[in-house]
Amino acid sequence: MKRIAVVTSGGDAPGMNAAIRSVVRIGYTKGIEIIGVYSGFKGIIEDQFASLLPRDVSGLLEKGGTILQTSRTEEFKEEDVQYKTIEKMKKQGIEGLIIIGGNGSQSGNLALAKKGFPVIGVASTIDNDLWGIDYTIGFDTAVNTAIQAIDKIRDTATSHARTFIIEVMGRDRGFIAIDAGIASGADIVLIPEIKFDIDKIIYNIKEGIEKKKKHHMIVCAEGAIRANELEKIIESYLDIDVRVSVLGYIQRGGSPTRFDRIIATLFGERALSELIAGNSGKVVGIRGNNIVIVDVADAVSKYKKINYSLYNLVEEVSV
Ligand code: F6P
Repeated sequence: MKRIAVVTSGGDAPGMNAAIRSVVRIGYTKGIEIIGVYSGFKGIIEDQFASLLPRDVSGLLEKGGTILQTSRTEEFKEEDVQYKTIEKMKKQGIEGLIIIGGNGSQSGNLALAKKGFPVIGVASTIDNDLWGIDYTIGFDTAVNTAIQAIDKIRDTATSHARTFIIEVMGRDRGFIAIDAGIASGADIVLIPEIKFDIDKIIYNIKEGIEKKKKHHMIVCAEGAIRANELEKIIESYLDIDVRVSVLGYIQRGGSPTRFDRIIATLFGERALSELIAGNSGKVVGIRGNNIVIVDVADAVSKYKKINYSLYNLVEEVSV
């Protein structure tokens, strides 16, 4: 292969830039021209291409977001748009595509690979919801950002003896909530995967007050219940001071952690070698200590289980 394109798609995630840098520089070393696509899949349709050289990706390791910019392209779900995308790339002499993104973006990988165009995905989403992959680029940074925020909120919670509900992202999954909850010492963690019992939550808070706990910290995943709704429910049962903090987009931004920078660099390198080796319709990720490739159809359609034993620990360590 002489010309490979790289695109970032869907929600941005810290470490995407490190993956772009890896693809561009390793591609250069291997004598392959790397074409950056701007603005996600819609950039292919709109001919937003630019050749990238090693110096174009300087100073990127520590930068959040994506220099290529990104988008959620609804029309890309249509077959004729997918064929048009392939035509556009062929016209540019592009022989393969690397898609850096999460679940929705890797569904694009599946669609293009099925139509015979060589594509390899790089797993990148703060939600960490791709099957077969332990960690996606951006998750570690997002969780660390959430932990730092929750640690700060605890200062106020303790000082005022308040109950706080902190809403974290994750779309319809609870991976961020579980890790952030365990690592910040939350008393209660609510995730979409497990139906919560309001009586148990009320009992837990009441018991905590009797045990002279200084505060109550509830971490709730946005997909389980919105924090504002839960606040109203708790206040309808108990006469206590409840406050809400929705962490929102601060979880998506910022400088990537060591872990995200390293996996991004490794994933970028592996994605290139897989394309060169003639593979397509795969996603690069990490499982255990190994960089792996997963069939994209499995990655996007199979259900990634949460770590139940970690989740169950929340209750045990918050006595
Ligand atoms: O997929 C990443 C994510 O940040 C989710 O956690 C969140 O639900 C969603 O994106 C927000 O999407 P948007 O950027 O379109 O508002």
